[in-house]
Formats: sequence, C-alpha cells, structure tokens
Amino acid sequence: MLSVDYRCDPSSFADAEAVYLEVRRAEGRVLSPEALRELPLVAAGDPHVREWRIRAATTDRLIGFLRGHRPHPHILDLGCGPGWMTAILARELEATAIGIDCNRSELERGAEAFGTVEGLELVYGDIFEPVVDPASFDIIIVAAALQYFPDPHALLIRLLDLLKPGGEILVADTPLYRREEIPAAAERTRAYYTELGFPRMAEHYHHHALDDLAAFSPGIIYDPRSMLSRIGRTVFRRPLSPFPILRISRPEKP
Ligand SMILES: C[S@@+](CC[C@H](N)C(=O)[O-])C[C@H]1O[C@@H](n2cnc3c(N)ncnc32)[C@H](O)[C@@H]1O
Repeated sequence: MLSVDYRCDPSSFADAEAVYLEVRRAEGRVLSPEALRELPLVAAGDPHVREWRIRAATTDRLIGFLRGHRPHPHILDLGCGPGWMTAILARELEATAIGIDCNRSELERGAEAFGTVEGLELVYGDIFEPVVDPASFDIIIVAAALQYFPDPHALLIRLLDLLKPGGEILVADTPLYRREEIPAAAERTRAYYTELGFPRMAEHYHHHALDDLAAFSPGIIYDPRSMLSRIGRTVFRRPLSPFPILRISRPEKP
C-alpha cells in the first residue's frame, strides 16, 4: 500500500491548506477514493464536467507527447493534489512518478485512492525545500498549479535545478494572461472567492503573464490560439483547453 512520505513539517502550510480545503468543499471538489480513481472521467451531470473534459484532453496530449518522446521517464508532478494525473502518468507511461504537494489532506486521499499504482510515490513537501534530489528528473509536470505560486520565475529556476540535463518542464492548464489583462482577472478572482464566502483564498491564487516565462524561451506543445485548436473548439465543440501547454528545457550542456 502507498503511504505519504512526509519530508517537511506539515504545520508549515496549515493555514493555506485549511482555506484551500474549505474552498474545495464549497465547490464540490472533494472526491471519494472511488471518484478519484475515475478522474478525469466524471458523470455527465457533474457540475465540473466541462472542466474535467478539458483536463482529460490535456492529460491525453501530455501522454501522447511523452510516449513519443521520452519512454519510461522519471517524473515529478508538482502540486499534484490527490495525484490523479500522477497516477495516470505512472500507469500509462510505465514511469516512476513522484507527486509532490504541501496539502496533506489531498495527499492522504490520493494515497487511499491510488495505493496499488506501480511506480507512484506521494510526497508531502514544499518544492523550495530540499525534498527531492537535484538533477534527478526527466520531466516535471506543473498542471493547473502555476497559479498557486506567487513567483513563477523563482519557481522555474528551482525546477530547472531538479531536472537532469536535457530534461523538460511541462506547464499545462494554467491561465497565462497578457499583462494588461491581469488587473481585471485578479478582480474576478477576488469577487469569486468573496461570493463563495472565502475571500482569503484570493491571497493564494496568483495571476501570471505569458511574458513572465519569456526568459525561459518556452516551446509550445499545444497552442489554444492556433487555427486548428480554434476550429476544434468552436466548430467541432471539442473540449480543448483554453490554455497552452508549454515546455521549458534544461540544456544538455551548461
Ligand atoms: C489546484 S492544485 C493542482 C492539482 C493537480 N495538479 C491537478 O492537476 O488537478 C495546486 C496545488 O499546488 C500545491 N502547492 C502550492 N505551493 C506548493 C509548494 N510550495 N510546494 C508543493 N506544492 C505546492 C497546492 O497545495 C495545491 O494542491
């Protein structure tokens, strides 16, 4: 059976964890182990069905990319939550996949749900602490998570240090704005959490510009603005993510 490997003091993030969990409960996103095992599939009547269809399309795209490009990688899934995507990547790619998060309740539910998945590890830790070895991962996934980090530049520097030479960070399902769009987006977030009854959550949710990542020269694996993506979304009504999938590489040689 899988148990969460605690590599940090779990009291360090207690406040952020508490408000995050209250929000997740209010949004109906705290799922049973059975439901977690089904993700990204949810019932047609699920209030978040559209979002999960998008997450499913992203997961398929990541698997397709990694299958063709990096067989059996050693993966770090940063901000894995309960680890549903980590578990799928471990299984589908026959990979070793470490999901890391600083939310112990999410991780404990993940350990309950995915205890039999080979190659999967769940680690409690702050990614900025020495909780995993430097230069040890082929791939780092940052899925629907960049917006929970205040400083993407500092984060990407840290993640590059954790990659093997030639390794890649894949950023997916994160809104990346034009700089001038950020004040209005931040205001929408503030209004949303206030309306939900948890205004403090807005302090933990950040808005980043695509330009914030420019220094890392990201490549694009999926571009939501391409003609094909737009036709897929609008004409064929495919549930494609409105956000890009980016790849940021650590050079083979320093
Ligand atoms: C919305 S969740 C993403 C869930 C998951 N990746 C998915 O695709 O469904 C973002 C996660 O990032 C985690 N996180 C934020 N700061 C972190 C840090 N410094 N170290 C590790 N995890 C962190 C949060 O605890 C949260 O669970």
